[in-house]
Amino acid sequence: RDAPVVLGIETSCDETGVGIVRGTELLANVISSSMDEHARYGGVVPEVAARAHLEAIGPVITAAVAEAGLSLDDIDAVAVTSGPGLAGALMVGVGAAKALALSLGVPFYAVNHLVGHVGADVLAAEGQPLSYPTVALLVSGGHTSLLLVRDIVDDVELLGETIDDAAGEAFDKVARILGLPYPGGPQIDRVAADGDPRAIRFPRGLSLPKDMAAHRYDFSFSGLKTAVARWVEKRRDAGEPVPVADVAASFREAVADVLLTKALNACADTGVPRLLLGGGVVANARIRDLAHERAAAAGVELRIPPFSLCTDNGAMIAALGAQLIRAGRAPSDLGVPADSTLPV
Ligand code: KG4
Ligand code: ZN
Repeated sequence: RDAPVVLGIETSCDETGVGIVRGTELLANVISSSMDEHARYGGVVPEVAARAHLEAIGPVITAAVAEAGLSLDDIDAVAVTSGPGLAGALMVGVGAAKALALSLGVPFYAVNHLVGHVGADVLAAEGQPLSYPTVALLVSGGHTSLLLVRDIVDDVELLGETIDDAAGEAFDKVARILGLPYPGGPQIDRVAADGDPRAIRFPRGLSLPKDMAAHRYDFSFSGLKTAVARWVEKRRDAGEPVPVADVAASFREAVADVLLTKALNACADTGVPRLLLGGGVVANARIRDLAHERAAAAGVELRIPPFSLCTDNGAMIAALGAQLIRAGRAPSDLGVPADSTLPV
């Protein structure tokens, strides 16, 4: 018998994602994003996201099943992100997943979103799955977390996370300061290409010796955002032009530096020579370059799934569900709640 066909549902933020896998084989990955609806607010509005999921979830499930060339009767199990994320957004996905599993009479698996990002690796591995343990750095608009994954099924440790803004949020806010449209990450990346990353020395959050004791693997980006805002404000007050490319490049450098310093510290401290990146911010050109550079220098194997599996998607949730099934894990109870602060 073939590996089970698992349908995965992801609705923790603004992407309605439904993916289908057969074991480690990717069959479908359909995403509908409500990003455009949030643009005029400069960030994701939870109520708007939840309503958009409610409208999209049915059609996206249908589209994924069609993309896989299957019918609903071929689905052997349903997996869903039950947290962490926006409460109302999660409820839509969890409700849909329970209803689907009930109606098909198949097992239901509630999984953690962050662990799902790690689960994406097998879909891109081409027969060379990541070995464990691995360190994982997950960076998006909603989270910035550093994990030590000893075993994806039952031994994942949160080493650190942001104590304020997520890195993607910082990109979005700094873009706004510079007058660039939302989402800001790609915009900053674009204009930074023509700037000097050494033009301005912006702060690296929680990197001073006094912070490193308690927050060695934690991140903070709100001070960086404020530093950029002050710097730009001073220029404007003085009636001087703002060197947008230099500010963007210097800001991007500060984010990339602190992310990779802490991730490679984690590899060194734990003696784990593997680093997996995930989340939409991993699209950033400087973060990718610096990751390759520093991982090579440290003798660390670097894994970066393709972009479509780095941003929030249902395929990674399906892939994690398939790995739980293979490990013999019992299905989740149909009474399981959506949990916006679900721990790993
Ligand atoms: O993983 P993702 O699609 O999910 C959400 O958190 O919703 O990440 C979106 C975030 C946004 O904050 C966006 O500005 C950021 O990823 N982003 C980037 C880049 N592309 C997207 N940040 C930096 N550089 C990029 N090239
Ligand atoms: Zn995510």
